[in-house]
Amino acid sequence: MSASLFNLQRDHLTHLQQTYTDLLASHRLDSVAIYSGHANPHFGDDQAPTFQTYGHFMHWVGMADIQHSWLVIQPEKRPQLHLYAPADFWHLPTHLPEEPWVTEFDIQLCSEKPLPTLAGRAAVIGDIDPTTQLALDAQYQPQPLVNALDELRMFKTAYEIACLSEANRLAMAGHQAAQAAFIGASAELDIQLAYLAASRQRESDVPYQNIIGLNNHAGVLHYQHYGLSSPTKRHSLLVDAGRRFRGYCADITRTYAGPDAPSLYRNLIDDINQLKDTLVESVAPGVEFIALHEQMHRLLADILIANDLFQGSAEQAVDEGITRAFCPHGLGHSLGLQVHDVAGLRHPDGTPAPAPEQHPALRLTRTLRPGMVVTIEPGFYYIPMLLEPLRNKTLPINWSLVDLLANCGGIRIEDNIVVTENSQQNLTP
Ligand code: GLY
Ligand code: MN
Ligand code: MN
Repeated sequence: MSASLFNLQRDHLTHLQQTYTDLLASHRLDSVAIYSGHANPHFGDDQAPTFQTYGHFMHWVGMADIQHSWLVIQPEKRPQLHLYAPADFWHLPTHLPEEPWVTEFDIQLCSEKPLPTLAGRAAVIGDIDPTTQLALDAQYQPQPLVNALDELRMFKTAYEIACLSEANRLAMAGHQAAQAAFIGASAELDIQLAYLAASRQRESDVPYQNIIGLNNHAGVLHYQHYGLSSPTKRHSLLVDAGRRFRGYCADITRTYAGPDAPSLYRNLIDDINQLKDTLVESVAPGVEFIALHEQMHRLLADILIANDLFQGSAEQAVDEGITRAFCPHGLGHSLGLQVHDVAGLRHPDGTPAPAPEQHPALRLTRTLRPGMVVTIEPGFYYIPMLLEPLRNKTLPINWSLVDLLANCGGIRIEDNIVVTENSQQNLTP
């Protein structure tokens, strides 16, 4: 661990201890016990799905795979970690990293699944059965406290930004390998395997299921398969793939034209790349993310017109929902210990800030402030289900050109951006 990352983590922990102390006081609590969570085996089986530690637990320890463990936070006391570490010859025992948190916590290795001792007026948060005695003895999942802890996670410390930056660097090595595999005419599964190898991770460690879509699969927003064979025609590849570092997620998308793509698709990739850069440069403190999302739609309208896909006005393209048919998802979201991080749809005081009716998929409705980390991910897709209703209307859409894109599926370009004091910093190399 580099000296600077070591010091940054210490500062991060000091910040958490101070802020938790203040929040416990303002919520009239003496302690909070945070449960890591655990994976339940599949029904009737002894095998469990992949697991991710509860975000508020990870905020302290940065390990995404801790289960059956508790963390107790109290003012003026070192954090207490009750770590489930069974004497078990089936598995390698839990290995604690050489990081400052290990020396700054009181750690109890527990051979049985532990339960925390509640101190004073206690809150218990995490995925536990609310009817258990522990939950009944405490304030279970008090929403005002959870909202305040979510809000704390919205603003990243310098340590967290360093981790997100490292996650981006590692993910980008995967993206370069994926592009090379595409040039080598690989199948979706081979591109996924090349990505995992180059980004040094196994599939169960990815922060979300990588989206590797060749040809029309690039137009399926969360395409969930990996084809085993390479298609004879190679029009396009969309790779939306990440990496964790100390629990923190990268979420990066790149799109490539193949040898069989029409020039229209290549031009659109350039245009969406340019659109991404323009939107990234607009990220700054005080900017409303909803306004930035609306700016994306106005600029998408310009792209439709510039490429002769739409022969009306930009206003008409936006007002009649044409840009939304070509890009039905939000401009981006908060990013951190969860790929779609918490508090994106709440005001700072915890009250709901839902997505606008016209943009229900938007996951971030906040005013940008320094320390927030967001994705900027404009897209442009050929989605038959969304285009079909437009065909029955008399709209100046150049369908013969639009339909040239059917085999290419879509385009998304996604970078990870920190809001700084005066502007922004792009974490994606
Ligand atoms: N990878 C999912 C997303 O971009 O939000
Ligand atoms: Mn994203
Ligand atoms: Mn993504």
